[in-house]
Amino acid sequence: MTHSSSYQARAVGANGLIEYTDIDHGTWTLLHKRQRILTEQCAHPLISVALRALSLPDRHVPQCAEVSERLNAMTGWSMAPVPALIDFSTFYGMLAGRCFPAASFIRRREELDYLKEPDIFHEIFGHSPILAIPELAEFSERIGELGVQCPAEWHPWIARLHWFTIEFGLMRHQGERRALGAGLISSASELRYSVRSSQPVVRPFNLLDCLRTPYRIDILQPLYFELEDLRSLGALSNAEIIRSMHQAREMGSHEPLYTPKKRQSVEEPC
Ligand SMILES: [Fe+2]
Repeated sequence: MTHSSSYQARAVGANGLIEYTDIDHGTWTLLHKRQRILTEQCAHPLISVALRALSLPDRHVPQCAEVSERLNAMTGWSMAPVPALIDFSTFYGMLAGRCFPAASFIRRREELDYLKEPDIFHEIFGHSPILAIPELAEFSERIGELGVQCPAEWHPWIARLHWFTIEFGLMRHQGERRALGAGLISSASELRYSVRSSQPVVRPFNLLDCLRTPYRIDILQPLYFELEDLRSLGALSNAEIIRSMHQAREMGSHEPLYTPKKRQSVEEPC
């Protein structure tokens, strides 16, 4: 959200739409085709069902307005284009209002496989199915509410909860590991890796554990949390999350399972 970017936000025209080039539409088409196949194989069926219900276009970059129309009918959410970089307060404020802030640019062809910052493919292909699933839509809104209610110094802990659930969460399905988070759903390499590789550590979802776990945004995740079902998120009260954030702060962060960068990501608690 707040790190530097080599991409520029696309301007919204007077008609409220963003104009994309043929190259942009071609990039979307390639990404969409590949991820539709992979999500059927590796994502939780709830995601595949939501993607089918959303019926995202396969040959052009969708406008937020057209996705919002479908989302609104399903869960009351919408998506709106924002500049590539927004701060935590804006991000959480929009989530609290059931409006997802979507970066408007699309990745370059040379970064087709991996991009450390969210582009329109990640936002729409990764997040719209999440926002179409009522329990996850509600949890996204609650993350926003927490971000609005808590002082800014707590935002990095809320970011961890968001990261390990909405962005990179896994969920069991008939005894198997399946991808749920938007960061996985929109990434060809990490979608396969998170579900099929024995390399990452996979732990059952635990709120305190998750809040104490640092992450890096620019690598394949060395650790994922796996939900048994969506009830485990729905059952968390805001009061319990706030209590656990205090506890996590007192106890300190776990040792990272990656090599820390010299300058830690600003998403991380300092
Ligand atoms: Fe995201």
